[in-house]
Amino acid sequence: MKEKLEELQTKIEQTIISSAEELEQFRLTYLSRKGILNDLFEEFKIIPNETKKDLGKLMNAVKQDVQEKFNDASVLFQTSASHNKSNIQSDLTLPAEIENIGGRHPLSLVENEIVSIFNKISFTITEGPEIEDDWHNFSALNFPENHPARDMQDTFFIDKEVALRTHTSSVQVRLMENQKPPLRAIMPGRVYRNEAVSARANCFFHQVEGIYIDKKVSFADLKQTLYYFVKEMFGEDVKVRFRPSFFPFTEPSAEMDISCLLCKGEGCNVCKYTGWVEILGCGMIDPNVLENCGINPEEYSGFAFGMGIERIAMLKYDVKDLRTYFTNDVSFLKQFSQL
Ligand code: PHE
Repeated sequence: MKEKLEELQTKIEQTIISSAEELEQFRLTYLSRKGILNDLFEEFKIIPNETKKDLGKLMNAVKQDVQEKFNDASVLFQTSASHNKSNIQSDLTLPAEIENIGGRHPLSLVENEIVSIFNKISFTITEGPEIEDDWHNFSALNFPENHPARDMQDTFFIDKEVALRTHTSSVQVRLMENQKPPLRAIMPGRVYRNEAVSARANCFFHQVEGIYIDKKVSFADLKQTLYYFVKEMFGEDVKVRFRPSFFPFTEPSAEMDISCLLCKGEGCNVCKYTGWVEILGCGMIDPNVLENCGINPEEYSGFAFGMGIERIAMLKYDVKDLRTYFTNDVSFLKQFSQL
């Protein structure tokens, strides 16, 4: 058997593989299941144990030689064979295949834009939990015990004390409790309300709220900040108006409208023929709320505002039905992939 192996070794050394066919022939002769190497290993099993040690080494050396020869040649012939094949198939005059790259969701685009506008005037970002307790979502914000917003129509309660947050004002409470003024931050996030789903409302949506608390902050600061935001977001030509409103946690409170972007104030069904669309609620933080959160209202004052991202994205991209944001329809989402 020793001679046989040595003979084989020389033979392999002398073998020259010069084509893909020869490579395949080599593989069949030596490496396949019915090839020479396998036969030799079968033979090896039945030789006397004393000779096994020496012969074993030689066997392994032969096996290695075969494998190396095969590997070296396959680098040359197998790859060039597959290259040849692909060369034949590819026609350089054909138009390129369009890669389907994803894009950001329109709500993320708008949220990012709002965040970066406020970042420019030093508002930081704060986030908080979507499952909230009664204190952070309602009580600290001056909601009386029997306020309708607490009842089952608007809020998804988990139990008597715990609910899905209905606004990110709960994050404002957490921030006021944990940090000392001056505070200047925005709170983006998802909120939940138990509403019938329609073209204009959904059971969850997204908000960006914000607060600014320092000594001597006034309603004029609030207006100026929001004017700046609107101009950055919608352009110089957009008109703004404030209407008195009510929120339990701000006093005075207002809602801010902008001139309708779609009809430029002339009247259409989006602005219900008024020329104006409401985009946010705002006001001076009620002294009770400051006190609830451990801030002295004699020393500090502040403003707060909150807006719905869906509403702003609808105006910006002329989206007619809010539900299209959540159906994951690729033909809708694709329109935003270049933005
Ligand atoms: N939290 C209010 C809402 O969800 C918005 C708001 C925030 C209003 C801050 C006034 C001040 O509708």
